[in-house]
Amino acid sequence: MESRKLSVFPFISLMVTTAMTLSAAVDTINLTHPIRDGDTLVSSGGNFVLGFFQPQRSNCRYVGIWYKKVPLPTAVWVANRAVPLVDSTGVLKITKPGILVLVNGSGHLIWSTNSPRSASLQNPVAQLLDLGNLVVREESDENLDNVVWQSFDYPCDTHLPGMKLGWDLVTNFERYLTSWASSDDPSPGNYTYALDRHGYPQMLLMKGSTVQYRSGPWNGITFSGIPGLKPNPIYKFWFVFNKRETYYDYLLLNSSVISRRVLNPYGQMQRLLWNNHTQGWTLYLTAQSDNCDTYALCGAFGSCNIANSPACGCLKGFVPKSPKDWELGDWSDGCLRRTQLDCKIGDGFMKHSNIKLPDTRYSWFNTSMTLGECERACFLNCSCIAYSNLDVRRGGSGCLLWFGDLLDVREYPDFGQDLYVRMASSEIGKLGSGGKKTRIIVTPTILAAVFLSITVTLYFRKKWKKEGKTEFDPKGCSTSGNQKEEADLPLFDFTIIAEATNNFSDDNKVGEGGFGPVYRGVLNGSQIAVKRLSKDSAQGLDEFKNEVLCIARLQHRNLVTFLGCCIQADERMLIYEYMPNKSLDYYIFDKTRSMSLDWPKRFNIINGIARGLLYLHQDSRLLIVHRDLKAGNVLLDHEWNPKISDFGMARIFDGKGCEARTERVVGTYGYMSPEYATDGLFSLKSDVFSFGVLVLEIVSGRRNWRFSHPDHHHNLLGHAWRLYREGESLKLIDSSIDHSNYVDQILRSVHLGLLCVQQSQEDRLSMSAVVVMLSSDNELPPPKQPGFFIERYLEEVNSVSNKVESSSSNEMTITLVTGR
Ligand SMILES: *[C@@H]1O[C@H](CO)[C@@H](O)[C@H](O)[C@H]1NC(C)=O
Ligand SMILES: *[C@@H]1O[C@H](CO)[C@@H](O)[C@H](O)[C@H]1NC(C)=O
Ligand SMILES: *[C@@H]1O[C@H](CO)[C@@H](O)[C@H](O)[C@H]1NC(C)=O
Ligand SMILES: *[C@@H]1O[C@H](CO)[C@@H](O)[C@H](O)[C@H]1NC(C)=O
Ligand SMILES: *[C@@H]1O[C@H](CO)[C@@H](O)[C@H](O)[C@H]1NC(C)=O
Ligand SMILES: *[C@@H]1O[C@H](CO)[C@@H](O)[C@H](O)[C@H]1NC(C)=O
Ligand SMILES: *[C@@H]1O[C@H](CO)[C@@H](O)[C@H](O)[C@H]1NC(C)=O
Repeated sequence: MESRKLSVFPFISLMVTTAMTLSAAVDTINLTHPIRDGDTLVSSGGNFVLGFFQPQRSNCRYVGIWYKKVPLPTAVWVANRAVPLVDSTGVLKITKPGILVLVNGSGHLIWSTNSPRSASLQNPVAQLLDLGNLVVREESDENLDNVVWQSFDYPCDTHLPGMKLGWDLVTNFERYLTSWASSDDPSPGNYTYALDRHGYPQMLLMKGSTVQYRSGPWNGITFSGIPGLKPNPIYKFWFVFNKRETYYDYLLLNSSVISRRVLNPYGQMQRLLWNNHTQGWTLYLTAQSDNCDTYALCGAFGSCNIANSPACGCLKGFVPKSPKDWELGDWSDGCLRRTQLDCKIGDGFMKHSNIKLPDTRYSWFNTSMTLGECERACFLNCSCIAYSNLDVRRGGSGCLLWFGDLLDVREYPDFGQDLYVRMASSEIGKLGSGGKKTRIIVTPTILAAVFLSITVTLYFRKKWKKEGKTEFDPKGCSTSGNQKEEADLPLFDFTIIAEATNNFSDDNKVGEGGFGPVYRGVLNGSQIAVKRLSKDSAQGLDEFKNEVLCIARLQHRNLVTFLGCCIQADERMLIYEYMPNKSLDYYIFDKTRSMSLDWPKRFNIINGIARGLLYLHQDSRLLIVHRDLKAGNVLLDHEWNPKISDFGMARIFDGKGCEARTERVVGTYGYMSPEYATDGLFSLKSDVFSFGVLVLEIVSGRRNWRFSHPDHHHNLLGHAWRLYREGESLKLIDSSIDHSNYVDQILRSVHLGLLCVQQSQEDRLSMSAVVVMLSSDNELPPPKQPGFFIERYLEEVNSVSNKVESSSSNEMTITLVTGR
């Protein structure tokens, strides 16, 4: 059926013209020798002819190029396609400084070359080359790089071998095909076939401004949507995409074969072969193979499979958006997710195989990323809907990410690529039990190995070297520097973590974190801490997600180092570097152990916490309120440097300094600011309050919570304030501290602590002020009354808010903390 529609263009009296050219086989026009209607140029190898012709059923004459060896007149290029000559008086000539012009009998300009490179040629010539390319150049300069104009830069409907269909990215110049209006009319028709540069390049066939068909992106071997384009004995083809240019091109392998690609007037992109036996053009390949190649036939998230009836379906886990239309055969509305995305931790990716990759105009790409890095990049960005390899050669490389709807997907029986589509984890579970093409995010050990080599290698490189282990590619190490700065989210395989923690044995359990047990483990010779989410903890899942979202993007020497997480089936784990010295509360509140923390160490700890908090509040990429700063959440490394941990309750804060309100007040009694505990208002200043409490605890070695004193009923804050006002702050100091040499520093710390716990948040210092003041000698302003300095205050608060559920004031405060 296609062969009837082939674009062949018989000419009137072609035989006459051909006969005339035989005597004078010239391939060049010069200043003194133009060509007139009836004259022709013949390329030196005898492949192409340039001359005047007239399509069948047409009264117009055109200057064009056609095959010399093909008796069926077939124009491959037309100069004046939009402005025909009405008679045979036309003359094609070259003028100084190098412009080719076509004039009619009365000397009117019909057509001319127009090139920015029309330099000042002394002796310009126009030559028809044997590939069918007409070039304008200086007569003495045969270097094709120096031509000032060439017809290959202005294709019509035919892609000849050697014509770079695409873009010169340096000059922003594009070459694309435009169909003829009809087989008798070379004027620009309804269709174009061009390389689209949005997102990742692909060829688009357009009718006006509407996409009709898409080749799909180049995958290293062929276009993702042209199964028929494969290595063959007739032509070789390639795609170039670098900083200078991007185009598709081909060359014929056998000079005795005649073949061309043409965009016909009906919008079909075809490759034709001249058949010497039938003396006709035969169809070799049509880009659009069937109805499924109709652009976006099945709408967003739809998938076309020509083997099905109807061909349109939804991607797995999606349902028709308008079921009624769908039944009636209108699939254009596409499909919707059955389960909304949870974003981040709850999501996974489902693998679809043999896919024509979706429209890449809304994609992002990176040619050097591995599939694992690609998955992670997609995973970390909620708007990333799908990913795939860019290049399928050598096991796959490069990364393509899609944002927004997936359009124009089709499924092949045995062609196409793997596409990983983001799905809510529940969908993956559902489909997983019944289906085959399921993959929960990052299960394969290979991926885990990739992540390990990226992050863990960095950390344990030294140790590996010592132990002579070489199982990881050293190149992974060298590139991992950047990776680390990007604070990525490495994902570990469950089996690796299970192995590292001795299968989560009780011996390895080192404590109970906010949402589950914490295990110690050894991974590649280095110690890790693994926080495992309790499976029945619904609250914990939120905190887990929250912690991952926060910590994955943070990096500071005073924040605990996050190594990655493990998300597999219903397992959720966070992996940190292990802190051998446990947490601050383990020391400062214990009579014996507190001996190991002398004042310089404590001061270093105060400074470190201040810096870590400042980073969260001000210097990190996100603005973060920790909301649960306390001695138990400050871990100590082997040099007693503090590391803030536990981001399960942290909140990303928008709107600098403004307050946010939360319904659920969480935190630890003794560290919560009054406005937060009573009204649920949290701000950066709530963390400052907790920091102040912590400073006073570090100095005094006493807990604020359940602090008692024989002389009064104030808590630690009230006690410290009392002593301060009496000029007796030295009495606050932990008796295990030898303070004689550090009196000024200690008193300054107490003063700063009191400035941080003031009742009114406006009065409290910012963390940047704290950091400055800790290291300067400038005079400090006097502190005002601290918030929550008497236990009684809380009782009042509680009765006002009707939250009294117990008679003991201590328990009541706990109710307040956890019961809202
Ligand atoms: C132009 O071409 C003709 C024939 O090819 C040649 O005889 C003539 O010398 C050329 N003139 C110039 C100026 O190059
Ligand atoms: C040449 O073109 C002009 C403008 O289109 C037209 O007016 C004129 O009649 C044409 N002359 C010939 C001889 O075709
Ligand atoms: C090119 O094709 C011709 C005719 O089909 C054949 O005889 C010849 O061997 C081919 N040449 C090459 C190099 O394949
Ligand atoms: C081109 O578009 C016009 C207007 O839409 C239409 O009338 C004409 O038939 C189209 N031509 C072809 C070859 O499809
Ligand atoms: C094509 O056929 C013609 C005769 O019909 C013959 O002269 C010519 O050599 C053939 N060309 C090729 C490439 O086979
Ligand atoms: C692509 O990924 C590599 C490796 O992850 C990275 O180094 C490079 O900067 C990325 N390039 C772009 C343009 O994002
Ligand atoms: C996600 O990707 C989109 C598109 O590239 C980008 O505009 C957006 O900033 C990204 N979001 C994050 C959180 O990185």
